[in-house]
Amino acid sequence: MDFFNYKNGHLHGEGVALKDIADEVGTPFYVYSTATLTRHFEVFSDALRGMNAMVCFAVKANSNQAVLTTLAALGAGADVVSGGELTRALKANIKPHRIVFSGVGKQDDEIEFALNSGIKQINVESEPELDRISAISVRLGKTATVALRVNPDVDAGTHEKITTGRKGNKFGIDWERVPEVYQKATDLPGIHIAGLAMHIGSQLMDLEPYRQAYSRVAELVETLRSRGLTVEVLDAGGGLGVPYGEADEVENPHPEAYTEVVRNTLGHLGTELIFEPGRMIAGNSGVLVTRVIYAKKSTDKTFLIVDAGMNDLIRPTLYGAFHNIITETQPPPGADLINVDIVGPICETGDTFAKDRKFPETKANDLLVVRTAGAYGAVQSSTYNTRALIPEVMVNGDRHCVVRKRMSVEDIIALDRLPDWLSE
Ligand code: LLP
Repeated sequence: MDFFNYKNGHLHGEGVALKDIADEVGTPFYVYSTATLTRHFEVFSDALRGMNAMVCFAVKANSNQAVLTTLAALGAGADVVSGGELTRALKANIKPHRIVFSGVGKQDDEIEFALNSGIKQINVESEPELDRISAISVRLGKTATVALRVNPDVDAGTHEKITTGRKGNKFGIDWERVPEVYQKATDLPGIHIAGLAMHIGSQLMDLEPYRQAYSRVAELVETLRSRGLTVEVLDAGGGLGVPYGEADEVENPHPEAYTEVVRNTLGHLGTELIFEPGRMIAGNSGVLVTRVIYAKKSTDKTFLIVDAGMNDLIRPTLYGAFHNIITETQPPPGADLINVDIVGPICETGDTFAKDRKFPETKANDLLVVRTAGAYGAVQSSTYNTRALIPEVMVNGDRHCVVRKRMSVEDIIALDRLPDWLSE
């Protein structure tokens, strides 16, 4: 459910007509809806009622300061994966004791920054990382609270590029080694081992992999406890799938059904629980608005060439992801549909948003809206083809604000330097 709907024949984000934003900021641009972000955060938090639980929004999904600040005001914590994301989370007023730091390749300065900021915990992905954190924390005279990220070796049944909990993925500590590494963490100086963390993949449309992974982890907790080790915290990761609008799509799992699985598998252990949802909060809270440059007719289809490209939204190119695309003006009921490909202007065949879609007749200058672009959209954009990063706009009721301005080509070029031998 989101707050992008047609009113008076035009698509609105809450109370604001997207065409009015297009007139103001030009195209393409992203729009985020405050009401949708709020609703999703609250649906997820409500589903956790009665549990000793914390929701740490996965900042990688959408790191705009306005989005983070909106979520912070609702009580969200943050799951960060870099010093950069940690800086953003702190700047958005997310309290350090609500921040967890994940990721396989944390560098010394990032570990130091995390320890000096007093965050809730660092999720450790390997033994060398554990040793490194211990050494840094001893040097700083601190105690690092850590959780071991374990790899439960279950198939999340999602796209291969976003599955993370299988043996052979680069993530987490091998299952068989966990008791030994946990004991080691207990003995290491400068380390307080709080518990375990896991994340098995993203865009999960089935709860069964969660049931399997969490059941395995529950057994592991019993094993650790039987050896006299203390497990106080379990980080259950993120990954809940959202509807992208495929016609034949299986329904995405409801947070209530998900937390039922959590209660049944982990509830009896009496630990604190951490959740790291990203897409579930931000996905349907954002859309990408783009303008048709040309409608090029060929024999069996029409190519709608739009002004957004794979540099602005790479999900279809990278994962073959489906995004529902609609027209900004409401099509009349029963409008004829034609066969279209919706493509960007970049010189690569992969720069395609939609193939063989049934679409209302559309002409140059019309606006199109790519839905479910609030997660892993703007954050994965680049300046490929020297295309400047596009603006992000947030709506809230009848109000809107440009929450990231459009970059300029001069901004991009100004980062380059000529060597002496070319500038003399
Ligand atoms: N926690 C950890 C440790 C993660 O690696 C991730 C996502 C999350 C939480 C949040 O997962 P979510 O709830 O958003 O599914 N760029 C890809 C998705 C990459 C996900 C990476 N990890 C895409 O556009 O589909």
